[in-house]
Amino acid sequence: MVSQIRFLMCAPDHYDVDYVINPWMEGNIHKSSRDRAVEQWNKLYNVIKEHAIVDLVKPQPGWPDMVFSANAGLVLGENVVLSRFLHKERQGEEPYFQQWFENNGYHVDTLPKELPFEGAGDALLDREGRWLWAGYGFRSELDSHPYLAKWLDIEVISLRLMDERFYHLDTCFCPLANGYLLYYPGAFDSYSNRVIEMRVAPEKRIAIQEADAVNFACNAVNIEHIVIMNKASESLKSRLAEVGFQVIETPLTEFLKAGGAAKCLTLRVTEPVREELHATTQVESRVIRLEGHLLDAGLINRALDSIVEMGGSFQVLKFNLGEQRQSTSAAEVRVTAPSHEVMEEIISQLIDLGAVDLPQDERDAKLEPIVQAGVAPDDFYVSTIYPTEIRVNGKWLKVQNQRMDAAIAISQTSDGLVARCKLVRDLEIGESALVDVQGIRTVRKTESREQRNTQEFSFMSAGVSSERRVELVVEQVAWEMRKIKDSGGKVVVTAGPVVIHTGGGEHLARLIREGYIQALLGGNAIAVHDIEQNILGTSLGVDMKRGVAVHGGHRHHLKVINTIRRFGSIANAVEAGAVNGGVMYECVKNNIPFSLAGSIRDDGPLPDTQPNMILAQQEYAKLVHGADMVLMLSSMLHSIGVGNMTPAGVKMVCVDINPAVVTKLSDRGSIESVGVVTDVGLFLSLLIQQLDKLTSPYVANVG
Ligand code: ARG
Repeated sequence: MVSQIRFLMCAPDHYDVDYVINPWMEGNIHKSSRDRAVEQWNKLYNVIKEHAIVDLVKPQPGWPDMVFSANAGLVLGENVVLSRFLHKERQGEEPYFQQWFENNGYHVDTLPKELPFEGAGDALLDREGRWLWAGYGFRSELDSHPYLAKWLDIEVISLRLMDERFYHLDTCFCPLANGYLLYYPGAFDSYSNRVIEMRVAPEKRIAIQEADAVNFACNAVNIEHIVIMNKASESLKSRLAEVGFQVIETPLTEFLKAGGAAKCLTLRVTEPVREELHATTQVESRVIRLEGHLLDAGLINRALDSIVEMGGSFQVLKFNLGEQRQSTSAAEVRVTAPSHEVMEEIISQLIDLGAVDLPQDERDAKLEPIVQAGVAPDDFYVSTIYPTEIRVNGKWLKVQNQRMDAAIAISQTSDGLVARCKLVRDLEIGESALVDVQGIRTVRKTESREQRNTQEFSFMSAGVSSERRVELVVEQVAWEMRKIKDSGGKVVVTAGPVVIHTGGGEHLARLIREGYIQALLGGNAIAVHDIEQNILGTSLGVDMKRGVAVHGGHRHHLKVINTIRRFGSIANAVEAGAVNGGVMYECVKNNIPFSLAGSIRDDGPLPDTQPNMILAQQEYAKLVHGADMVLMLSSMLHSIGVGNMTPAGVKMVCVDINPAVVTKLSDRGSIESVGVVTDVGLFLSLLIQQLDKLTSPYVANVG
C-alpha cells in the first residue's frame, strides 16, 4: 500500500561526474556510466514507489548534479527554504528547484546572498518532527541555522561535520522512525557527539562503523519501518532488524562516484508540522573588535583560525588596514557559535588575543556571588597570563595577581572594588567571581615586526633551540641576567637534581653567591643531592670527580638526610659548619630565600621540605611574585607549577635535555619564553663563562 508520503526525484538524463567538489568525485571525472546510472536510479525509483508517491522535477542539461534533489531545499509543511549552493557548479540548479516548489504551492524563502545552505542534504528533521538537525562545516554556513529556525518555526540543533568524506549531514546521519538514529560518530566533532548523545537515548542510537559509512549506509531513505540504502553489512542489517527496521539494498555505485546515494537522490516533500513546537536555536552571534599589528603579527589569522577550529564561524565586517608598516589595523568580526558554551570558549580565546566584545562600552562584566567557599560558579571565567581588565559599573578595573588558571574574584575593600586572580580553592563567601566572557579585555603588548626583531628575547622565541644555537642563547640570557642584576631586579630559579648530577651545582652556587639569583625553587631532591655532594662528594652515589658509582653510594643521600634532620634545618647545618659549600649553602649564607616542595617519591624528607602541597604552592607564589626572569633548570613539575603562577611579561628560560619538556614549557603563546634543549650542567658552565666575559658599568655586587 502506498502511503501519503511524497518524494521529489530528478531523473539522471544529464547525470555525469563533470567536476570535483567533494572527495568522492576525485579521479572519477567522466568515469560513471550513464546507462548503469539510469538503471540504478530506476531501481531506486521503483522501490520508493512501492511505499510512497514520487514526484519528478525536469532534469536540466548542464546541471549534472541536479539528480541529487535532496539539495533542492528544505521542506517543512508548506514552507521551503531554498538551497544556496556553496559551489558555482551547482548554483544554476536553484531557479529550477524554486520553480518546482512554487508551481506545487509551496511558500519559498531564500537566504541572503553569500550564505550557503544546501537544503535537506544538510538539514534533517527528527522523524517525530520534534526538531531539526542541521549540519555545518563544509557546505552550509552556521549562520544559516537561525534563519531555518525562524522561517520553519522549529528548534534547530547544529552539528559540526569534521571529515570531508562526509561533507553533507545526510552522508553520515539518518534519523529513523520511532526516535531511532543511524549515524557515523566519526564524522562529527566531540561537542556535536555530545549534543547527539544528550538528545538521543543510548538504546535509540545506532552508531555504524566506517566500513558501512563509506558505503553510504547513513544515506538512507526511511519510510516507516523500511530503510532503503546502497549497501549494508550483515551486522548492520541485523541490528536494524532487531529494532524493527527492514533494510532494502539497491546498488547506487554510479552515484557514489559523485558523492551521493539513496537519500541524496530524493527529497521528502511532505513533512508534517507539529503546531505546538516553536523556533529555538542555540546559535549565537557576537561582534568583536581586534586592534594591533593584525597582519604583521599574524593576529588576525590566529583569531580567525581559532574561531573555526573551535567550531564557530565568522564574518569580517570591517577591516581597516594600517597604511604604514608601523601603524596598527583594526577589524570587526562577527563570530557565530553553535551554542553559548562554544561561544564562551571562542570568546575567551579571542580575549587572550586582545579582542574586545562589542559594544564594549555598554556591557559590564557578569559577576556571580560565591555561595560555597572554594567553589566557583559553573561558567566562571578562567584567567590567563595576560594583564586583564574587567568592566564593572561602567569602569575598567585592572585585575591584580595576574596568573593563569584562576578565577577572577571581586571583593569590596576599604580601597573600593578589587579584582584579583584567585585559585578556585581560595574563593570565599562574600566575594563574587567573574562568569561568562563579556566585559573582559586583556592588554596585549602589540609588537610590530620591528619591535619583535629588536627585542632581545625575540630571536630565540622562534622555537626551541638546538645544540648549535645554545651558545647564542646563553649569550642573550647572560646579557639579560646582567641587566636585571644591575637594575636590582629579580631572577628566580627552579632547579631539579639533574643540575647536581650533571655537575652544574658549583655554577649555580656561584650565580647565587654573585647576586644573580634572588630565589630558588625546587623539591627535596635538589637540596639532598647538593648537600650529598658537599658532604660526601657524590650525587646519588656517583663520585662527582671520577664519574663512577661508589660502593654503597646509593645509601649516601639517606645518610645526608639523616644528618640534616639531626640539625633540624639546612640553615642550622650550615651554621654548625656541617655543610660548607654548594647551592643550599650559598642560599643560606646570602639570605636567598628558597622553597622545597615535597612529593610522593621523597626520601626523608629534609626538615625544610614542605610536604603540604598547597602551602608549597603558596610559598612558591610568594617567591615568584615580582620576578623579571625565571630560569627553569631541568625540573619539569616545578617549572610547570611556576609557569602557571607567572604572568605574561616575565621572561622564562627553560633548559632541559628533553625537547618535549622544553616545548611544553616555552609554549605559552608569549614571546617572552624561550626553550633550550641541552645538558643543564653544560648550560650553566657556558652561562658562567659568558657572565665572566661581560663587563658592567656598575660594580658587581659580590656577596
Ligand atoms: N556531487 C554532489 C555534490 O557534491 C553530490 C551531492 C550529494 N547530495 C547529498 N545530499 N549528500 O554536491
